[in-house]
Amino acid sequence: MLDVPDFPKPGVIFKDLMPLFADGDVFREVIDGIVAYHGRDSFDAVVGIEARGFVIAAAIAYATGVGVVPVRKAGKLPRATHSASYALEYGEATLEVHQDAFTAGHRVLVVDDVLATGGTAEATLDLVERAGGTVAGFTVLMELGFLKGRERLAPRPVHALLSI
Ligand code: PRP
Repeated sequence: MLDVPDFPKPGVIFKDLMPLFADGDVFREVIDGIVAYHGRDSFDAVVGIEARGFVIAAAIAYATGVGVVPVRKAGKLPRATHSASYALEYGEATLEVHQDAFTAGHRVLVVDDVLATGGTAEATLDLVERAGGTVAGFTVLMELGFLKGRERLAPRPVHALLSI
């Protein structure tokens, strides 16, 4: 992981996990570790949150033989969607999922690279349920504990490979 100062704006230190994705052995270990933690028969679909979550979700889906479903930023999905908005430091963000993404009772594993304030994750878990899925688990590669995303999502469990 690399610390990148002043990205995406001055004063923010961006935690760049891309080097981890770029190392084939490490990436495989991460994906296998997530699958082993949840159990390969514990979910029927994987949701990846735009954009880095897509990379993780696709690898888990391929490794386990389930499908991958994207949760995207507003305006990117072509068919009827559910949408959920949440507050940012300045303004708000909106995420969407296709209304027909899941069949009723589908057990859905949600993955992303980073849990910070938890706004993105909270909106995504809400979208999964509104689209008929059941959240089977939520995993991130890294949790920024001081931003208290885990508390925001409680009592839903959060699995983080790394907490700082
Ligand atoms: C980052 C990260 C998470 C989210 C976490 O995504 O990948 O999805 O922020 O922040 P939160 O817990 O405070 O909501 P970003 O919005 O930078 O989108 P990107 O992956 O498309 O760059």
